[in-house]
Amino acid sequence: MNVLLLGSGGREHALAWKLVQSDAVSQLFCAPGNPGMATLLKTTCLPATGVNDFEAVLACVRDHAIDFVVVGPEEPLANGIADVLNAAGCLVFGPSRVAAQLEGSKAFAKAFMARHKIPTASYAEFYDADAALMHLDAVGAPIVIKADGLAAGKGVTVAMDLETARDAVNRIMRDREFGEAGAAVVIEEFMVGEEASIFALSDGGHYQILASCQDHKAAREGDTGPNTGGMGAYSPAPVVTPELMARIEAEVIAPTIRGMAAEGTPYRGVLYAGMMIAATGPRVVEFNCRFGDPETQVVLPRLKNDLLPLLLACAKGTLDRHEVRFDDTHCVTVVMASAGYPGSYAKGKAITGIDAAHEAGLYVFHAGTRFENEQLVTAGGRVLNVTGQGKDLEATLAQIYAGMAHIHFEGGWCRKDIAHRALARLKA
Ligand SMILES: Nc1ncnc2c1ncn2[C@@H]1O[C@H](COP(=O)(O)OP(=O)(O)OP(=O)(O)O)[C@@H](O)[C@H]1O
Ligand SMILES: [Mg+2]
Repeated sequence: MNVLLLGSGGREHALAWKLVQSDAVSQLFCAPGNPGMATLLKTTCLPATGVNDFEAVLACVRDHAIDFVVVGPEEPLANGIADVLNAAGCLVFGPSRVAAQLEGSKAFAKAFMARHKIPTASYAEFYDADAALMHLDAVGAPIVIKADGLAAGKGVTVAMDLETARDAVNRIMRDREFGEAGAAVVIEEFMVGEEASIFALSDGGHYQILASCQDHKAAREGDTGPNTGGMGAYSPAPVVTPELMARIEAEVIAPTIRGMAAEGTPYRGVLYAGMMIAATGPRVVEFNCRFGDPETQVVLPRLKNDLLPLLLACAKGTLDRHEVRFDDTHCVTVVMASAGYPGSYAKGKAITGIDAAHEAGLYVFHAGTRFENEQLVTAGGRVLNVTGQGKDLEATLAQIYAGMAHIHFEGGWCRKDIAHRALARLKA
């Protein structure tokens, strides 16, 4: 069948890389795609088609006789791309607009979890800045402030003091730093623990849980410094023991899928549960309605199944006929970023050495690259996801960091301690 994949980052490169391994995929179209995806077999990029231009996406479905659309990022899902494509008779991997509110509205997600007794931080929601500020004075710090809507990963402030918390409310609600996403805020209890991410595929009724993983949001070694989109990730996350995974399934995944169906808004697609492993057990930090980036880059290489039938089964309601299987390797990805990221950074720096990294046994997913006069150049803050896989975590990390030395672009840098928590746990 002909498949259309929407998106252009490292996550979509990993999805495309896995999808083209399927014999059932005749042709893969990527809109807009990226230079890494363009090198894959059977793959055509459509750089002029944006993921939020639904007319253009529908035209592309018609022009290329697309049978199935896989949606990478959250924004088109929150805007209802799945509903629009379904109405046009096209199968889609990704939740409806209403179901995507589990990510698109933090207030919706918190109220849903409260209704279904899913463990998470206690919270209050506010539509008025004065009321939010009064609440802060009453509860004190540490405290967490979240813009209700989508804010490209920048809408959350973990405030260790009241001044920071008040400033976050003012920036979100008064200055509208994230536009309409800041019409409401969620103020929630600060949770202590180690984070991990769990993805579950769902067809609305059945679900299949994928391998655990963990990302590193902070820019600097030791998980310090400003927050980023993610500087690296690894799978499995040893903090998620089999016992914990069973609890996450029983206390979070199963009631979420059941609850969404019971409320008449069945969840079809991938449910990303961001978890805090607290002393009392697992608690939800957030839900996302799509695969994580860069977590996808470490989960998919470990998946033994053909990906296409699994994603199709989510759209068709037949996921009970499948069982996901993962290999016993460790997979790690390290992000190579532009100088200055996550602040402002230059683009257009020539990139060399990717082939040498491939020859060293790594796979390099493109996150922010483009071609300029036939030269591959940087085009984003997170540029490349250098990925390795092996039975031994320490050896895999050594291989990745050695292989990365082949890759060069001016100012390029990475965190040197990706997977340090996993390494410490395995050694203990
Ligand atoms: N209640 C909490 N207690 C402690 N830390 C929290 C809490 N809520 C969020 N955080 C921290 O802030 C980060 C971002 O929060 P959250 O995942 O809700 O935001 P987001 O903007 O939706 O993130 P993403 O871009 O990953 O979707 C979390 O990964 C976690 O480290
Ligand atoms: Mg989120």
